[in-house]
Amino acid sequence: MAVLDLRFDGDPILRKAAAPVIQFGEPVDTLIADLFETMYAAQGRGLAAPQVGISQRMFVIDTTWKEGEKHPIAFVNPEIVEAAPFSQLGPEACLSIPDRTFNVARPVWVDLGWNSPAGIRQTARFHGVGAVCVCHELDHLNGVLITDTGTEV
Ligand code: NI
Repeated sequence: MAVLDLRFDGDPILRKAAAPVIQFGEPVDTLIADLFETMYAAQGRGLAAPQVGISQRMFVIDTTWKEGEKHPIAFVNPEIVEAAPFSQLGPEACLSIPDRTFNVARPVWVDLGWNSPAGIRQTARFHGVGAVCVCHELDHLNGVLITDTGTEV
C-alpha cells in the first residue's frame, strides 16, 4: 500500500468525467487500498480516484473513523438509483481544495448501486453524512467540485 500524491483544484483531471472500470482484479484492489491509505493519511472521510490522478470511476469513504470505529467502504462504478426529494444543507470540505469550506445542498438520502472491488453488485441507502459523502465523491467522478455546487462559508 502507498500514500499517493493528491491533485488539487486547478488540475484538469479533476474536471474530467472518469471512465467506467471494466476490468476487476488486482489493479483495482491495489488502487482501492492506496485510496484508503491516502484518505486516512490526509485526515479525510472520502477520496475519489481522480483526486490521485486516476480518471476511473472509483471512490472510498469512511464517515465514522474520526469519531471512533472504522467503516471503510469502496465503490466501483457507483450510480444513484434514487434520491430523496428533500435536501439537507451542510458544510463540506475537500482534500483537493484545502482550508476552504462550502455549504452544499444534498439529498437527505440516496439509494446507491455500485460494484465491490471484486466486481459484485451492491446496493444500499445512505442517510445524512453518508449521503453527503457519497454524493460529494460521486461528483468527483463527473468532474464536479464543491466550488461549483456550494457557497463558500
Ligand atoms: Ni472532494
